[in-house]
Amino acid sequence: MKNVKWVVEDEKRKHVYWPSEHMKKRAWVSDHSVYQEAEKDPVAFLAKKAHEGLDWKKKWNTEYHHDEHKPWDFKWFIGGEINASYNALDRHVKAGKADKTAFIWVPELTEEAPKKITYKELYDEVNKFANVLKKLGVKRGDRVGIYLPMIPEVIVSMMACARLGAVHSVVFSAFSGESLKDRLIDADAKVLVTADSCYRRGKVLDLKSNADIGVAGTDVEHVVVVKRTGNAITWNDAKDQWWHDLMKDAEDYCEPEFVESNETLFILYTSGTTGKPKGIVHDTGGYLTQAYWTTKWNFDLHDDDIFWCTADIGWVTGHTYGCYGPLLVGATMLMFEGAPDYPDPGRWWKTVEDYKVTVFYTAPTAIRMFMKFGDEWVKKHDLGTLRLLGSVGEPINHDAWMWYFEVIGGGRCPIIDTWWQTETGGTLINTLPGIGPFIPTVSGRDFPGKKHVIVNEEGQEVKPGESGYLIQKPPFAPGMFRGIHKDEKKYIENYWTRFPGHYDTSDGARLNEDDTIRITGRVDDVMKVAGHRLSTGELEDAINKHPLARESAVVPKPDNIKGEVPVAFIILRDPSKASEELKKDIVKHIDKTIGPIARPSEIYFVHDVPKTRSGKIMRRILRALVRGDADVGSTITLMNPECVEELKKMVQHHG
Ligand code: PRX
Repeated sequence: MKNVKWVVEDEKRKHVYWPSEHMKKRAWVSDHSVYQEAEKDPVAFLAKKAHEGLDWKKKWNTEYHHDEHKPWDFKWFIGGEINASYNALDRHVKAGKADKTAFIWVPELTEEAPKKITYKELYDEVNKFANVLKKLGVKRGDRVGIYLPMIPEVIVSMMACARLGAVHSVVFSAFSGESLKDRLIDADAKVLVTADSCYRRGKVLDLKSNADIGVAGTDVEHVVVVKRTGNAITWNDAKDQWWHDLMKDAEDYCEPEFVESNETLFILYTSGTTGKPKGIVHDTGGYLTQAYWTTKWNFDLHDDDIFWCTADIGWVTGHTYGCYGPLLVGATMLMFEGAPDYPDPGRWWKTVEDYKVTVFYTAPTAIRMFMKFGDEWVKKHDLGTLRLLGSVGEPINHDAWMWYFEVIGGGRCPIIDTWWQTETGGTLINTLPGIGPFIPTVSGRDFPGKKHVIVNEEGQEVKPGESGYLIQKPPFAPGMFRGIHKDEKKYIENYWTRFPGHYDTSDGARLNEDDTIRITGRVDDVMKVAGHRLSTGELEDAINKHPLARESAVVPKPDNIKGEVPVAFIILRDPSKASEELKKDIVKHIDKTIGPIARPSEIYFVHDVPKTRSGKIMRRILRALVRGDADVGSTITLMNPECVEELKKMVQHHG
């Protein structure tokens, strides 16, 4: 690929790359007519795509409907009947792809053998496990919790739920037992699938004891336990059963349950601006349509590709591009169990080399981490099979983009910077590989069939060169979530109130002169810590539950590798108890309440935090303080402006 021209943006010279002739020839999409067709009639375009990409048992009677007065209440493919596991498995097996590898599983321990699982093998396992779940009483619409590490059984479990028309709620295995419990209660889960333990950097972590905390006091009737490490665990005869015992007696075939397109496929909890995580509800037909086409077009997957999405299955990226999308298109993917730098920082690149990965999708935080480890870890390996790279989860800075492009991609591979959210189900803004251009820090344009605009405070569209709020226009994307589980009020308030008639993404963005979009980051109290979504409110809630904490304020601080890290200001009930030991104890408490990913990078014990006269914490000031801004902005509206100086000294002293 050639750097064919330079553009000037923000006084910085930027590279602009275009697809090579080879890429254009091979790509599923390489001329603009698809954008034009989609723009002319997005509903007709997307309905055509839903029909082309997926197998429906019964065709819908209405393509799309939304109530003018209740834009959030939109529906796609009304009356259509579909099953996700049928589309991901049965139809490929029937079409002669039974022996194609669905995924290669690479365990963390290098001495353990990897596994190749064909579509037929996956189909068999899914059928059997669906029968297991059925026997445990799981029916269409029931919720099943899945709390598993990156092992094949996690995909089998998700697909088995989908086969029954049951709803899965996957909880990231690094979340604590308490977090799991909150999610199981909110979802009213009947069954939990978990493992005895998992490996993390060569150590065995006892997952089952977290799962025990998670299910205590919930309506979970059965716990299915995968034997991953075989270490000793606590066992509750009344609820617990081994996966392998149940599978031994399971029948081979389970009839897929075809559901109405708008029925729920899964719930995935994510952080909002308040303390309580939100259960993001995704439907079936719309979600699958988005998953299918974005996977196929963004990553340009063909039969000879090996696609590796590094995201954990516990996040939406793992759901859509580490499970549903690649299986729907019948691709081969790679699933990696371990940590990126274990046993050494060359592990990922060795994996790319060993399994001849062609398309690689990861987060900027990982790229920055590998930049720091140094090029030598990459150079030891032949990455010549790579032909396309993806980025997701947070804005990618210029240097990380260039390093990814040059050192990982050898200057050959386009970088597809995909913007999307747990709520959107699939990518919505990015450049397509056969179209371009690929510009560092710029996500690109709307995926065909979608329209986002950038507006100012008053909701008016900004001019090219300006920044504002990113909002989605109707018709809303088929992959969009359909609500917050059991909380319609919050759903409407959070997403549909500020800019009436539009979906409010809570992201800031800038419109470039060429109509491409650059995402600038969240405009609410959600942080992206190493690509993980965390809310300041959630962390504050957790800290406030510590017996010695009276109140707290958490703000994100920019970090060279993780993007952002949380910094906590804590007011103690008894200030004389402040000590380094107490900091450690609070960290332990956060590990227990949320999980280690929420650990603050700094903790300050303070007398007060800046508040408005109505008592609201002014996070704006704290954010400026931790950023080291000389000017923290106006303090005249504060109830307690005097505390700002004290905090400033503390933060400066620490920095
Ligand atoms: O701020 C945006 C950022 O991640 C947020 C969504 O987080 P989550 O629901 O965890 O989903 C992450 C994976 C899709 C968005 O509101 N974000 C996501 N992708 C990008 C991004 N920011 C900039 N560029 C991206 N490509």
